[in-house]
Amino acid sequence: MENRKKGFFITFEGADGCGKTTQSELIKKYLEDTGRKTLWTREPGGAELGKELRKILLHYDGYVAPECEAFLFLADRAQHVETVIKPAVDSGMIVLCDRYTDSTVAYQGYGKGIDITRINYLNDLATGKFYPDLTLVFDVDSEIAQKRVGADKDRMESEGSGFHQKVRYGYLRLAEEYPYRIKIINANNSIEQVFEDTKKAVENFLAV
Ligand code: TYD
Repeated sequence: MENRKKGFFITFEGADGCGKTTQSELIKKYLEDTGRKTLWTREPGGAELGKELRKILLHYDGYVAPECEAFLFLADRAQHVETVIKPAVDSGMIVLCDRYTDSTVAYQGYGKGIDITRINYLNDLATGKFYPDLTLVFDVDSEIAQKRVGADKDRMESEGSGFHQKVRYGYLRLAEEYPYRIKIINANNSIEQVFEDTKKAVENFLAV
């Protein structure tokens, strides 16, 4: 039932430094140039209230319990999907969202060890089961990703390399589990090559 949408909902996922933000912005421009009404948004912080949650999530400098972190991302998502994403999709737009439910599975689930079944349940609750039509996972070698992130790291980026490897593994598992929704893009290549692959994946999906 929830798949009978007027517009489309596409999410961009991957470990820190994978280049998905650059690609999602390029795709927004490409889709607009071809006459499609598009909204670019992101998590955390895509809704007005979520901007405050984003500050805590990325810059709070004390200890944050994994469950607390998960609930803050989920709270952000609940507000975002109801007030921003769903209305735009319902009005016929193509919504491009930089991170969504799979980030919580990969980071708080695979990365921080919270039970995946529980995260799936909480994602259902936060989104009212409003899931993407297409998800692109930008897969990149951890070393390349770390170089792209650079030295100026936020709270999540400062987690060790073991954590980021678990996150990457989590995304690959998700892609195996949901092969129709999730497509992997090799993000080790140049921006131009990755954009060609991204465009192809989006066009293939929109043509169906
Ligand atoms: P952001 O600055 O938006 O970085 P990026 O360009 O990598 O998306 O930071 C978002 C961070 O929050 C990123 O490290 C991933 C993390 N995150 C989670 O851990 N769980 C989530 O559910 C979401 C949405 C993001």
